[in-house]
Amino acid sequence: MKPECLLYSFLYETTAMVCHIVDADGIVRFVNKKYVEILGMEEDEVVGHAIVDITPHTRTTQVRKSGKAIIGYNWTVNGYHMIASCIPLFQDDQLIGCFSYSIVMDIWDAKDLVGNVMAELNMYRDEVINLYSARYSFAEIIGENQKMRAVKDLAHKAAQHPSITVLIHGESGTGKELFAQAIHQASNRSRMPFIRVNCAAIPEHLLEAELFGYEEGSFTGARKGGSRGKFELAHGGTIFLDEIGEMSPSMQSKLLVFLQEREFERLGGHKPIRVNVRVIAATNRDLKAMMDENTFREDLYYRLNVLSLDIPPLRERMDDLPLLVDYIMPCINKELKTEVTGMSIEASRTIKKYSWPGNVRELINVLQRSALLADLNNDPIITDKHLSFLNVPSGHDTAQRSLREQMKDFEKQVIARALAETRFNKTQTAQILDMDLSSLYKKVKAYGLMEVN
Ligand SMILES: Nc1ncnc2c1ncn2[C@@H]1O[C@H](COP(=O)(O)OP(=O)(O)OP(=O)(O)O)[C@@H](O)[C@H]1O
Ligand SMILES: [Mg+2]
Repeated sequence: MKPECLLYSFLYETTAMVCHIVDADGIVRFVNKKYVEILGMEEDEVVGHAIVDITPHTRTTQVRKSGKAIIGYNWTVNGYHMIASCIPLFQDDQLIGCFSYSIVMDIWDAKDLVGNVMAELNMYRDEVINLYSARYSFAEIIGENQKMRAVKDLAHKAAQHPSITVLIHGESGTGKELFAQAIHQASNRSRMPFIRVNCAAIPEHLLEAELFGYEEGSFTGARKGGSRGKFELAHGGTIFLDEIGEMSPSMQSKLLVFLQEREFERLGGHKPIRVNVRVIAATNRDLKAMMDENTFREDLYYRLNVLSLDIPPLRERMDDLPLLVDYIMPCINKELKTEVTGMSIEASRTIKKYSWPGNVRELINVLQRSALLADLNNDPIITDKHLSFLNVPSGHDTAQRSLREQMKDFEKQVIARALAETRFNKTQTAQILDMDLSSLYKKVKAYGLMEVN
C-alpha cells in the first residue's frame, strides 16, 4: 500500500483523533469516523455539505480567509470538549482548503485525570488540615476548681503570647494535650498547623529525622529527595513535644540548640533552616528530679520552662466531678447509643472516694463502663451497683474504721499516685517507693490498680 493510502486509512479509522478537510469553498471533502460519531450524523450528511451548516462556528471560515493556521483553540461539540487546530492547505501557493483536527482522547483523558487528581488533592488537603489542626479549645476544658482556674488563666496568657515556650506538667490523663491544643487554638497561630510529636513513641535514632527532616541519601532507607521534618511542617504554627521527659540526652542537646538559635539543619544537610514555631512540651515526669539525677539537661529545662502549667490531678479537684460527669455523660450517650441521664447521690459519693490515678481519662472510662452496665439493666441512672468494679475504700467514717483498714487505704493511694507519676512503670514505681518489685506486683493486684487505657 502506498504511504499516502496508509495515512488516509489511519486518519479515517483512528479513534485517537477527530479530523476533517474542507475545500476552498468550505465544503467538507473528508471526515473521519470518530468525528462523524461525535457529530451524531451519518457520513453522507457531512461529506459534500458546507461545514458552516454542520458546525456554524467553524474556524475554517477564518483560516480560509486569512490563510493562517489557528492552533489550540477550545472546541466543543455535543458536550465533547476538545483542543483543536485548523491549518490551511496550499498547492502551488494557492489555498485549496483546510485541515482541522483534535487529539480528542488525550484531552478527555487529561480532563479526567486532572479532575481525579484535583479530587484526590482536595481529599489529602482536608486530611492534612484535619490531622495537623487542634481539635480542642478552652471551652472543652471542664473545671471550675480554684487550682484549675489558675492554670486556665495562665494558659490564656500563654495563648496571648504566641512565641513563648510552654511546659505542661501533669499526671497521666489530666488533660495536658487538651491544654496544648487549646493554647494553640486561642492564639493567632490557630490557622497554622498544630503538630504533635510523641517523643516516647519514636525510636531515638529516628526522632532526629522526624523532627528536623533529612536530605536525600543521609541514611540507608532515606527517601529520594529527602524529607521535611515536623519543625518545618509546623512553620507558623505550634509543635507539641509530648512526653519530653523520655527524650534521649543527645536529642535534648539538639533541641536545646534549636531553642537557642531558632534554626536547625536537616540530617545530612548543611543549610541552616529558620522556622517560626511555638514549642509546647509536656511530661508527667518530675523533670526537676530528673535534673538532679542528670537524666534531663538543666539548660534545656530552663529553656522550656518559660511558662509552666501544672495541671492538678483529679483527686485534688473532686469538686469538679459533677461538672465533668455532666459534660462527659451526653458524649458517652451519643457514642455508645445509651440513654443514661445521670448518677445517683450514692454513686456520686462513691466516685468521690476513689483516687483516680488515671485522672479524667480514667473517669471517662469508668463512666463508659458503668453507663453500659446501667443501659443493659434498663436503669436510667448510674448507681453504686454499676460501679462495683471500682476499687473504692469502704464507706465507713474514718473514726469508725480500724487503723489497719485506714493504713491499707493510705497505702493504696500512695501506690496509685506513684504509678500514675511513672505512667505505670512498675520498676520505677518500686524504686521510688523503695520496695520489692514482687511485693509491688502483689499490691497492684490486690488493690486493683491496673492501668486504664
Ligand atoms: N478538664 C477536662 N475537661 C474535659 N475533658 C478532659 C479534661 N481533662 C482531660 N480530659 C479528657 O481526658 C482525656 C485525656 O486527656 P489528655 O490526652 O489531654 O491527657 P494527657 O495529660 O495528655 O494524658 P497522657 O499523659 O496520658 O498523655 C481526653 O479524652 C480529654 O479530652
Ligand atoms: Mg498526652
